[in-house]
Amino acid sequence: MNVIMLGLPGAGKGTQAKFIAESQRIPHISTGDLFRQAYQDQTKLGILAKEYMSKGGLVPDDVTIGIALNRLDQVDCDHGFLLDGFPRNIAQAISLREYLINKSSSVDHVIYVEVNEDVLVERLTGRRVCSKCGETYHIINNPPAQPGLCNTCSHPLIQREDDSEDTVRERLNVNKELTLRLCEFYNSEGTLRTVDGLRPMDEVTAQIKKVMGP
Ligand code: AP5
Repeated sequence: MNVIMLGLPGAGKGTQAKFIAESQRIPHISTGDLFRQAYQDQTKLGILAKEYMSKGGLVPDDVTIGIALNRLDQVDCDHGFLLDGFPRNIAQAISLREYLINKSSSVDHVIYVEVNEDVLVERLTGRRVCSKCGETYHIINNPPAQPGLCNTCSHPLIQREDDSEDTVRERLNVNKELTLRLCEFYNSEGTLRTVDGLRPMDEVTAQIKKVMGP
Protein backbone atom coordinates (compact mmCIF):
# COMPACT_ATOMS: atom_id res chain seq x y z
CA MET A 1 0.00 0.00 0.00
CA ASN A 2 1.34 3.44 -0.98
CA VAL A 3 0.10 6.25 1.25
CA ILE A 4 0.70 10.01 1.42
CA MET A 5 -0.05 12.10 4.52
CA LEU A 6 -1.05 15.62 3.54
CA GLY A 7 -1.71 18.58 5.83
CA LEU A 8 -0.45 21.93 7.00
CA PRO A 9 2.50 22.05 9.43
CA GLY A 10 1.28 20.80 12.81
CA ALA A 11 -1.84 19.07 11.49
CA GLY A 12 -0.63 15.81 13.02
CA LYS A 13 0.86 14.13 9.93
CA GLY A 14 3.90 12.79 11.78
CA THR A 15 1.88 11.66 14.80
CA GLN A 16 -0.59 9.71 12.63
CA ALA A 17 2.05 8.51 10.16
CA LYS A 18 3.81 6.63 12.95
CA PHE A 19 0.63 4.72 13.94
CA ILE A 20 -0.45 3.99 10.38
CA ALA A 21 2.99 2.90 9.16
CA GLU A 22 3.30 0.53 12.14
CA SER A 23 -0.14 -0.98 11.64
CA GLN A 24 0.36 -1.38 7.87
CA ARG A 25 4.00 -2.53 8.30
CA ILE A 26 5.29 -0.03 5.78
CA PRO A 27 8.21 2.43 6.18
CA HIS A 28 7.39 5.94 7.39
CA ILE A 29 9.31 8.40 5.21
CA SER A 30 9.39 12.01 6.37
CA THR A 31 11.38 14.40 4.18
CA GLY A 32 11.68 16.74 7.19
CA ASP A 33 13.30 13.90 9.19
CA LEU A 34 15.61 13.05 6.26
CA PHE A 35 16.76 16.68 6.10
CA ARG A 36 17.22 16.91 9.89
CA GLN A 37 19.27 13.69 9.85
CA ALA A 38 21.39 14.99 6.96
CA TYR A 39 22.06 18.18 8.92
CA GLN A 40 22.98 16.20 12.03
CA ASP A 41 25.43 14.22 9.85
CA GLN A 42 26.73 17.58 8.53
CA THR A 43 26.37 16.55 4.89
CA LYS A 44 26.36 19.24 2.19
CA LEU A 45 22.70 18.54 1.53
CA GLY A 46 21.83 18.81 5.22
CA ILE A 47 23.62 22.13 5.60
CA LEU A 48 21.85 23.50 2.51
CA ALA A 49 18.42 22.23 3.68
CA LYS A 50 18.89 23.78 7.10
CA GLU A 51 19.21 27.26 5.53
CA TYR A 52 15.67 26.98 4.18
CA MET A 53 14.13 25.07 7.08
CA SER A 54 15.23 27.49 9.78
CA LYS A 55 13.51 30.35 7.93
CA GLY A 56 10.31 28.35 7.40
CA GLY A 57 10.78 28.09 3.61
CA LEU A 58 10.78 25.05 1.37
CA VAL A 59 13.97 23.25 0.39
CA PRO A 60 14.42 23.55 -3.43
CA ASP A 61 12.61 20.94 -5.50
CA ASP A 62 15.66 19.39 -7.18
CA VAL A 63 17.20 18.57 -3.80
CA THR A 64 13.91 17.43 -2.24
CA ILE A 65 12.75 15.28 -5.13
CA GLY A 66 16.20 13.65 -5.28
CA ILE A 67 16.25 12.73 -1.58
CA ALA A 68 12.64 11.48 -1.58
CA LEU A 69 12.89 9.32 -4.70
CA ASN A 70 16.26 7.88 -3.61
CA ARG A 71 14.66 6.83 -0.37
CA LEU A 72 11.76 5.18 -2.26
CA ASP A 73 14.33 3.18 -4.26
CA GLN A 74 15.36 1.32 -1.12
CA VAL A 75 14.23 -2.27 -0.84
CA ASP A 76 12.01 -1.73 2.23
CA CYS A 77 9.66 0.33 0.03
CA ASP A 78 9.05 -2.53 -2.42
CA HIS A 79 5.78 -3.46 -0.74
CA GLY A 80 4.57 0.02 0.09
CA PHE A 81 5.45 3.22 1.90
CA LEU A 82 3.96 6.10 3.81
CA LEU A 83 5.19 9.55 2.74
CA ASP A 84 4.93 12.36 5.32
CA GLY A 85 5.68 15.89 4.07
CA PHE A 86 6.27 14.90 0.44
CA PRO A 87 5.00 15.93 -2.04
CA ARG A 88 4.53 19.51 -0.91
CA ASN A 89 3.80 21.13 -4.28
CA ILE A 90 2.54 20.11 -7.70
CA ALA A 91 6.03 19.75 -9.23
CA GLN A 92 6.91 17.22 -6.52
CA ALA A 93 3.57 15.43 -6.98
CA ILE A 94 4.17 15.09 -10.72
CA SER A 95 7.70 13.75 -10.15
CA LEU A 96 6.34 11.18 -7.73
CA ARG A 97 3.60 10.15 -10.14
CA GLU A 98 6.13 9.68 -12.96
CA TYR A 99 8.45 7.73 -10.68
CA LEU A 100 5.61 5.38 -9.68
CA ILE A 101 4.35 4.96 -13.26
CA ASN A 102 7.85 3.81 -14.23
CA LYS A 103 7.55 1.17 -11.53
CA SER A 104 4.00 0.23 -12.67
CA SER A 105 2.74 1.54 -9.37
CA SER A 106 0.61 4.40 -8.03
CA VAL A 107 -0.60 6.11 -4.86
CA ASP A 108 -3.48 4.29 -3.12
CA HIS A 109 -4.53 6.84 -0.48
CA VAL A 110 -3.77 10.49 0.14
CA ILE A 111 -4.85 11.24 3.70
CA TYR A 112 -5.52 14.94 4.19
CA VAL A 113 -5.49 15.83 7.89
CA GLU A 114 -7.59 18.99 8.04
CA VAL A 115 -7.02 21.45 10.92
CA ASN A 116 -7.76 25.22 11.21
CA GLU A 117 -4.77 27.47 11.01
CA ASP A 118 -5.29 29.10 14.45
CA VAL A 119 -5.02 25.72 16.19
CA LEU A 120 -1.79 24.94 14.34
CA VAL A 121 0.20 27.80 15.89
CA GLU A 122 -0.69 26.53 19.37
CA ARG A 123 0.13 22.93 18.41
CA LEU A 124 3.53 23.75 16.95
CA THR A 125 4.74 26.22 19.56
CA GLY A 126 3.76 23.66 22.25
CA ARG A 127 5.40 20.71 20.52
CA ARG A 128 8.43 19.06 22.11
CA VAL A 129 10.47 16.24 20.55
CA CYS A 130 12.83 13.72 22.06
CA SER A 131 16.47 14.66 21.41
CA LYS A 132 17.35 10.97 21.00
CA CYS A 133 14.48 9.00 19.41
CA GLY A 134 12.39 11.83 17.90
CA GLU A 135 9.15 10.87 19.72
CA THR A 136 6.71 13.80 19.61
CA TYR A 137 4.87 15.38 22.56
CA HIS A 138 2.82 18.48 23.29
CA ILE A 139 3.13 20.39 26.55
CA ILE A 140 -0.68 20.39 27.03
CA ASN A 141 -2.31 17.92 24.60
CA ASN A 142 0.19 15.09 24.94
CA PRO A 143 2.61 15.71 27.82
CA PRO A 144 5.30 13.19 28.79
CA ALA A 145 4.83 11.22 32.03
CA GLN A 146 7.87 12.98 33.54
CA PRO A 147 8.19 16.68 32.60
CA GLY A 148 10.89 17.27 29.98
CA LEU A 149 11.78 13.59 29.51
CA CYS A 150 10.85 11.09 26.80
CA ASN A 151 8.51 8.26 27.89
CA THR A 152 10.26 5.79 25.58
CA CYS A 153 13.98 6.45 26.15
CA SER A 154 14.12 9.01 29.04
CA HIS A 155 16.25 11.45 27.01
CA PRO A 156 15.55 15.21 27.30
CA LEU A 157 12.82 16.79 25.18
CA ILE A 158 13.71 19.81 23.04
CA GLN A 159 11.84 22.38 20.95
CA ARG A 160 12.46 22.31 17.19
CA GLU A 161 14.18 25.49 15.99
CA ASP A 162 11.45 26.05 13.38
CA ASP A 163 8.70 25.84 16.03
CA SER A 164 9.22 29.43 17.21
CA GLU A 165 6.07 31.50 16.64
CA ASP A 166 7.45 33.69 13.82
CA THR A 167 8.82 30.72 11.88
CA VAL A 168 5.60 28.75 12.43
CA ARG A 169 3.58 31.61 10.88
CA GLU A 170 5.95 31.73 7.91
CA ARG A 171 5.66 27.93 7.44
CA LEU A 172 1.87 28.20 7.44
CA ASN A 173 1.96 31.06 4.89
CA VAL A 174 4.30 29.11 2.62
CA ASN A 175 2.26 25.90 2.77
CA LYS A 176 -1.38 27.11 2.71
CA GLU A 177 -1.88 27.61 -1.01
CA LEU A 178 0.36 24.68 -1.96
CA THR A 179 -1.59 22.28 0.25
CA LEU A 180 -4.87 23.43 -1.27
CA ARG A 181 -3.50 22.83 -4.79
CA LEU A 182 -2.32 19.34 -3.77
CA CYS A 183 -5.77 18.51 -2.38
CA GLU A 184 -7.29 19.51 -5.74
CA PHE A 185 -4.67 17.47 -7.62
CA TYR A 186 -5.31 14.28 -5.64
CA ASN A 187 -9.06 14.85 -5.49
CA SER A 188 -9.12 14.87 -9.28
CA GLU A 189 -7.19 11.56 -9.23
CA GLY A 190 -9.76 10.08 -6.83
CA THR A 191 -7.25 9.26 -4.08
CA LEU A 192 -7.93 12.10 -1.59
CA ARG A 193 -9.42 11.08 1.79
CA THR A 194 -10.08 13.92 4.24
CA VAL A 195 -10.10 13.37 8.00
CA ASP A 196 -10.92 15.79 10.81
CA GLY A 197 -7.56 16.51 12.48
CA LEU A 198 -9.20 18.51 15.28
CA ARG A 199 -10.42 15.31 16.94
CA PRO A 200 -8.34 13.62 19.67
CA MET A 201 -5.36 11.65 18.29
CA ASP A 202 -6.89 8.18 18.72
CA GLU A 203 -10.07 9.31 16.93
CA VAL A 204 -8.03 10.69 14.04
CA THR A 205 -6.25 7.33 13.78
CA ALA A 206 -9.62 5.54 13.73
CA GLN A 207 -10.90 7.85 10.97
CA ILE A 208 -7.80 7.17 8.88
CA LYS A 209 -8.13 3.41 9.28
CA LYS A 210 -11.78 3.69 8.26
CA VAL A 211 -11.14 5.72 5.09
CA MET A 212 -8.29 3.38 4.09
CA GLY A 213 -10.61 0.40 4.31
CA PRO A 214 -9.78 -3.19 5.28
P1 AP5 B 1 8.46 18.70 8.43
O1 AP5 B 1 9.27 18.13 9.51
O2 AP5 B 1 7.76 17.78 7.49
O3 AP5 B 1 7.46 19.72 9.10
P2 AP5 B 1 5.96 20.15 8.71
O4 AP5 B 1 5.38 19.69 7.44
O5 AP5 B 1 5.99 21.61 8.90
O6 AP5 B 1 5.10 19.35 9.68
P3 AP5 B 1 5.36 19.12 11.15
O7 AP5 B 1 6.30 17.99 11.37
O8 AP5 B 1 5.75 20.41 11.82
O9 AP5 B 1 3.89 18.80 11.67
P4 AP5 B 1 3.04 17.46 11.65
O10 AP5 B 1 1.86 17.65 10.78
O11 AP5 B 1 3.89 16.24 11.43
O12 AP5 B 1 2.52 17.50 13.16
P5 AP5 B 1 2.87 16.56 14.42
O13 AP5 B 1 2.31 15.21 14.22
O14 AP5 B 1 4.29 16.69 14.83
O15 AP5 B 1 9.33 19.68 7.52
C1 AP5 B 1 10.19 20.63 8.11
C2 AP5 B 1 10.81 21.49 7.03
O16 AP5 B 1 11.57 20.67 6.11
C3 AP5 B 1 9.84 22.26 6.13
O17 AP5 B 1 9.40 23.47 6.73
C4 AP5 B 1 10.71 22.48 4.88
O18 AP5 B 1 11.62 23.51 5.11
C5 AP5 B 1 11.48 21.17 4.79
N1 AP5 B 1 10.75 20.20 3.95
C6 AP5 B 1 10.22 19.01 4.36
N2 AP5 B 1 9.63 18.39 3.34
C7 AP5 B 1 9.78 19.20 2.25
C8 AP5 B 1 9.33 19.11 0.90
N3 AP5 B 1 8.63 18.06 0.45
N4 AP5 B 1 9.67 20.12 0.06
C9 AP5 B 1 10.40 21.17 0.48
N5 AP5 B 1 10.83 21.33 1.77
C10 AP5 B 1 10.52 20.35 2.64
O19 AP5 B 1 1.94 17.30 15.53
C11 AP5 B 1 2.20 18.64 15.92
C12 AP5 B 1 1.88 18.80 17.42
O20 AP5 B 1 0.48 18.63 17.62
C13 AP5 B 1 2.58 17.76 18.33
O21 AP5 B 1 2.95 18.38 19.52
C14 AP5 B 1 1.49 16.71 18.57
O22 AP5 B 1 1.66 16.06 19.83
C15 AP5 B 1 0.21 17.55 18.52
N6 AP5 B 1 -0.94 16.83 17.97
C16 AP5 B 1 -0.92 15.97 16.91
N7 AP5 B 1 -2.18 15.50 16.67
C17 AP5 B 1 -2.99 16.08 17.60
C18 AP5 B 1 -4.39 16.00 17.86
N8 AP5 B 1 -5.21 15.22 17.13
N9 AP5 B 1 -4.91 16.73 18.87
C19 AP5 B 1 -4.09 17.53 19.62
N10 AP5 B 1 -2.75 17.64 19.44
C20 AP5 B 1 -2.20 16.93 18.43
